[in-house]
Amino acid sequence: MSQSDKHERGVVIYDSKFGNTEKIAKSLAGGLRMTGMEVTCVNTNDVQTESLKDYDLIAIGAPTQMFTASRPMKDFLLKLKGVQGLKGKYGFAFDTKFASRLSGSASKYIEKTLKELGMEIVRPRQSAIVDKTEGPLEGGEVESFERTGFDIGTSLTKDREDPPPNSNEVAPPTH
Ligand SMILES: Cc1cc2nc3c(=O)[nH]c(=O)nc-3n(C[C@H](O)[C@H](O)[C@H](O)COP(=O)(O)O)c2cc1C
Repeated sequence: MSQSDKHERGVVIYDSKFGNTEKIAKSLAGGLRMTGMEVTCVNTNDVQTESLKDYDLIAIGAPTQMFTASRPMKDFLLKLKGVQGLKGKYGFAFDTKFASRLSGSASKYIEKTLKELGMEIVRPRQSAIVDKTEGPLEGGEVESFERTGFDIGTSLTKDREDPPPNSNEVAPPTH
């Protein structure tokens, strides 16, 4: 593969009980794609862990439950400890949670695990706030995560020689 054929690849992995974290994950993936990255967005249940070595960026998000990451996410992260080839990859952690300072954070747990796996944290963890247990997300969170995806993608692709497709039209999300 020549340098000009190479596009950074990203995977956004999420757990979600009521759909709010899934929404944020899709928004993050959308922002990453705007920079020309090739991005897959997938539930923890559908991840083939042996394929993760093929990605440059691994972003992982979960709902905060009992002050930490949800059980399915913790089980998934445990599986990652046995996966070869993750060291040195770019990582990003995110979560959904209540606004209170006392609510804990899934992304804190996820980010710590990514570091333990030897991954390079590309940007500090980010939380999206939900109003109630089932949601909805607070206004602006979807747009904020799209912007984060765009910023991460821009930082990862800036050294690339070839511009992303339709690069003349690529502009940061304006909301
Ligand atoms: C069993 C349970 C425990 C929860 N514990 C917390 C908590 O400790 N802190 C918090 O901020 N939110 C807590 N929540 C609210 C979740 O963060 C919220 O349901 C989640 O962000 C919604 O995302 P989802 O739609 O992707 O599941 C809890 C929710 C459930 C169902």
